[in-house]
Amino acid sequence: MRRDRQPATIMKPSAPEHIARIIPYPPGKPIEELEREYGISGSIKLASNENPLGPSPKAVEAIVSATSKLHRYPDGSGFYLRKKLAEKHGLPLDTILLGNGSNEIIELVIRALLTPGDEVIMASPSFLLYSLVARWMGGTPIAIPLSADLGFDLEKMAGAVTAKTKVIFLTNPNNPTGGVIGKADFEAFLSRVPPGVAVVLDEAYIEFNTDPDTPRGFDYIGGKWPSVIVLRTFSKAYGLAGLRIGFGAMDPEVASFLNRVRQPFNTGSLAQAAALAALEDEEFLQKSLETTWNGLRFLYGEVEKMGLRYIPSQANFFLIEVPCEAKLVYEAMLRRGVIIRSMASYGMARFIRISAGLPEENQRFVRTLREVLAEISPVDSNGEEAHAAAPNLVPSGAQPR
Ligand SMILES: Cc1ncc(COP(=O)(O)O)c(C=O)c1O
Repeated sequence: MRRDRQPATIMKPSAPEHIARIIPYPPGKPIEELEREYGISGSIKLASNENPLGPSPKAVEAIVSATSKLHRYPDGSGFYLRKKLAEKHGLPLDTILLGNGSNEIIELVIRALLTPGDEVIMASPSFLLYSLVARWMGGTPIAIPLSADLGFDLEKMAGAVTAKTKVIFLTNPNNPTGGVIGKADFEAFLSRVPPGVAVVLDEAYIEFNTDPDTPRGFDYIGGKWPSVIVLRTFSKAYGLAGLRIGFGAMDPEVASFLNRVRQPFNTGSLAQAAALAALEDEEFLQKSLETTWNGLRFLYGEVEKMGLRYIPSQANFFLIEVPCEAKLVYEAMLRRGVIIRSMASYGMARFIRISAGLPEENQRFVRTLREVLAEISPVDSNGEEAHAAAPNLVPSGAQPR
C-alpha cells in the first residue's frame, strides 16, 4: 500500500441537523469552577434556586445507612418512595413515577408522547429545558411570550394548539418570573385544550407559594382531567438537588407509556432513601420555607432602597432589573465571588435572577451589588437610559409577601 498519498477526509460520527443546531442548557456556574477559574475562595452561589440550608439532616442519615446496600441495584420502580408519596398526596400508587430529577420526567413525557415534527407549547420566558428537550426529540417548540404583566398568556397558549400539538408546559410558579396561574384561569385553560394534548403542570417551586388561589396539581389527577401531568422535585424545598430525584403524577395509562421509555434503574437507591426521609422531615421543610420567605423580604427591601425595580415572586428566587446589561453585573459579581444568574439567555438582557440565600449570603449579595453598580455606568453601551423600555414589573398572581 502506498503511504505518500493525502489521507482521505477522516469521517466522524455526526449528529442530524436537529441535534447539531441545539444550544446546550446553560447551568448556573458551580462554586468549584468559579474558584478554580478566578483563583478565589469563600464564594457564594445564589444562581440555581437551591436550598441554602443544605440537605435535610434526616436525609443525610438515611443516605449513610443506605450505603451498606450499594452493591445491589436499586428498586427500579422505587416502590416505597412512590407508596409514601401516594399516601401523602392522596393518590393511587400507579399514578406516580420517579425521575432522575423532575428534568427526567420532562424528558420522559416528550420521549413517550412525541413523534418527530410534533409541536410542544411553552411560555417564554419559562424553564429553558422544555424547548431544549422538545428539540432533542425532533419536536418543534412553540414559545408563547408572557403577557405584558408577565403572567402566562393562557388565551394565546390555548389558541396556539394545532393538530400537531402533543404537550403544553405550564410552570407554577414560573421560572424565572416567580408568577403563578390562578385556579379559575387554569381550569378555563384545561377546558379549552383538546383532550389528547398533555398539559404538564411543573410545580418545582410550589412549596414556596403562599397564594391561596393557586391550583393544587394533584387535585387534577385521577379525575376528569386525564391529560394533566404534575411535576414535583426534591431539589428545591427539600434540599436534595445533588441527588437528582423528582416525580410526576399522571393518569396511570400515561404513566405506563412513560415507563416504557424509562431507564430500568433511573433513580438510585441513595436518592430514594434520602427522599423518603426528607418527606418525614417536616421541621426542615418548614425551616427552608421560612428562610426563603425571610430572605426574599429582606432582599426586596434592600433592592428597593437601591432604587432598582424587581418582580415579587412566589418561588425561592426573584428577578431584579439592573441599569445596564445583566451580563456585566453577572461578570462583576463573579469576580467578587458571588454567583447569580444573568437572564440574557432567557431573552431578558437587563435582568438578573437571584435565589434567596442564608441571611449572611443575602447581605453579601446586597453589599456586592451596591459595589458593582457603583462601578458600572447606568448608561448602557448604546447610550440609552437603562429604564427606558422597562416592562410593568408586577406579574399576575405574584404579590409581595
Ligand atoms: C421550573 C423547573 N422545573 C424543573 C426543574 C428541574 O428540577 P430537578 O432538579 O428536579 O430536575 C427546575 C430546576 O431548576 C425548574 O426551575
